[in-house]
Order: sequence, then C-alpha cells, then structure tokens
Amino acid sequence: MTPEKPIALVTGAATGIGAACCRRLSESGFRIAVHYRSSEAPAMRLAQELDDAFTVQADLSSPEAIDGLIAGLKEKAGRVDVLVNNAGVNVNAPMPSMKLGDYDIVASLSRGTWYLTKCVVRRFMLRQKCGRIINISSVVGHTGNPGQVPYTMAKAGLDAMTRSLSQEVAGRGILVNSVAPGFIDTEMTGDLPEEVRQAILSRVPLGRMGEAGEVADAVDYLATRASYVHGTVVHVNGGLYCG
Ligand SMILES: NC(=O)c1ccc[n+]([C@@H]2O[C@H](COP(=O)([O-])OP(=O)(O)OC[C@H]3O[C@@H](n4cnc5c(N)ncnc54)[C@H](OP(=O)(O)O)[C@@H]3O)[C@@H](O)[C@H]2O)c1
Repeated sequence: MTPEKPIALVTGAATGIGAACCRRLSESGFRIAVHYRSSEAPAMRLAQELDDAFTVQADLSSPEAIDGLIAGLKEKAGRVDVLVNNAGVNVNAPMPSMKLGDYDIVASLSRGTWYLTKCVVRRFMLRQKCGRIINISSVVGHTGNPGQVPYTMAKAGLDAMTRSLSQEVAGRGILVNSVAPGFIDTEMTGDLPEEVRQAILSRVPLGRMGEAGEVADAVDYLATRASYVHGTVVHVNGGLYCG
C-alpha cells in the first residue's frame, strides 16, 4: 500500500465507462476506490487487477448507504482527490406509459449523486483545498431522446450541477466539469435492437460507436492535467452533437 497516492473514487465502476476510468486513472498514478452497487464480482476482479485499489459498496439511492460509503473512505483512504460521478440508470418508455416508479428509479440516483458530491466536497475536498469532480452526463441531456424523459432530465440536471457547483467552489482549489458521452459501446447500449443501433450510427459523423476508453481519456485529462477547464461540458460523441 502507498498511502501518499492521490485517491480517485469512481462510482458505478465495475463495468463499462466506469471500469475504463478506473484503469486509466490507475495508470496515471491514482489509488482507485472502485464503487459498485450490485456488480460485486467484476468490481472485486477490477480492484485486484489494479495497483493498490479497493472496493466500496453502496446503493446511491440511499443516503444512509452514502453516509456509510463516506465513513469507509475516511477509514480506508482518509481523502478523496478525484470524484467521478459515473453511476447512471435509464428506464426506457414513452411518457404516457411510464410509471411514477420508473421516474423514481432515475431521480433517486440523481439525488444520491448530489448527496455524495456534497459529502465529498464537505468532508474531503474543502479541507484538502483541492479536488476534481467529473460528472458523466450524456449527449441526450442536450439533444433530448424519445422514450428517455427522466434520464434526459437527470443528465441535463447533472450538467446544471456542474455549472452551479463550479461557481460555488471557484477559488477553493476544486475544479468541476462534465464529460458527456455520445453512443458508447458498453452493456448499457449492448441490447439495443440492430435497427435502432444503425439509426443512431447514421447520425454519427465519425461513423462508429465510441469506446469506453475514449471517454476515460477525457476524464483522465480533467483529473490530471486540466487547470483552467472549469464548469463546462466536454463532449465525447464522434461529432454527433457539437454543443
Ligand atoms: N454507454 C453509453 O453509450 C453512454 C452514453 C452516454 C452516457 N452514458 C453514461 O455513462 C455512465 C456509465 O454508463 P455505462 O454505459 O458504462 O453503463 P453501465 O455499465 O450499465 O454502468 C452503470 C453503472 O451505474 C451503477 N448504478 C446504477 N444505479 C445505481 C445506484 N442506484 N447506486 C449505485 N450505482 C448504480 C451500476 O452499478 P452496479 O452494476 O454495481 O449495480 C453500473 O455499474 C452512466 O452514467 C451512463 O448514463 C453512457
């Protein structure tokens, strides 16, 4: 164990974009807190694969679980230098047939992301006088997407959190930004019907899906090298949307 390494907490880290962020940030010298909710086995495998990483479990829709997560981080690491708010959930349905419970699934994770960020800022980053917060939002928070009203509301709200929080913590050594992926090849997009996949791809100027590692590269830049990028959205979408 090397306690002097900076700590990066990546939420929803067991799979997809989160796992790619863990690998990339580990290569950049961070000790990774691999957060998971239900994907215990892949999270454990990932933590074993990375140098000096550890796992933390919490359902982010539960404030009590987040309090436990913060206590665990205090004990295991004592600091958080980078927070990547990557956990995300989507429920697809046309608005008229969407259930209140579907909305709540998405909204409760948004609330949890806000609460986790508040706790990390208050308990760690303000005291450290440094930190980097990177919110993984989505292109559809900017363009909209039929069948995804709660998800697009949540992602647009996450970008709004980036803007407001960046203004609150300006001058405190903390940078806050969003990374908005486009159409990325992960489990979340893996079960799309082929005709939907082709319809989306036809709108992507680069003509292909993105890879999780290409999103992680933008996250790594914001975590390690950015010094004057603050309160903005970095789009990683192959030209699908230009902001
Ligand atoms: N793939 C794309 O094309 C794309 C495009 C734009 C934006 N994004 C965003 O990128 C992020 C990563 O997506 P991905 O494609 O890599 O999907 P993914 O592999 O399904 O990852 C989503 C993660 O969110 C976690 N999660 C969901 N609900 C949670 C909750 N209540 N509490 C804690 N964790 C929760 C899951 O954890 P467990 O598995 O442990 O339960 C899962 O690891 C998401 O925010 C997504 O919206 C993805």
